Amino acid sequence: MSVMLIMMLSIAACGNKPHETPNESAGASVKVDVAKLYQNYCLSCHGNQLQGGQGPNIQKIGERLDEASIIKQIQKGGGGMPPFQVTMKDEELKALAAWLAGLK
Ligand code: HEC
Repeated sequence: MSVMLIMMLSIAACGNKPHETPNESAGASVKVDVAKLYQNYCLSCHGNQLQGGQGPNIQKIGERLDEASIIKQIQKGGGGMPPFQVTMKDEELKALAAWLAGLK
């Protein structure tokens, strides 16, 4: 059952050409792979367990920052963290922040 669902989702995602579209086509239905985003953009500084390294431990970041604050941190960076506004799409940013904000 779930395999079918995943296949359908990935087919739908392919049709959207997620890499090339400059306009944000209202994102709620877009499936974002948060784990992959984290690996690509965050892991090098925040560690493979979010335990920190060059950046702080963010395993329980949801206790301190809400989604909006995390979005701001990712967009603006600061304190040694690079801003990711350019490299990440809106729906990716939002999904990643929502996931982190839920870590408590
Ligand atoms: C080049 C290293 C680096 C990368 C890559 C990086 N960060 Fe950071 N991050 C930092 C540093 C350093 C800080 C501390 C900033 C400060 O003290 O102001 C930080 C702070 C944060 C904070 C705030 C932590 C707190 O306790 O206030 C969050 C949330 C965060 N990063 C999330 C992310 C996410 C999500 C990504 C991937 C999109 C990411 N970071 C990528 C270095 C990095």
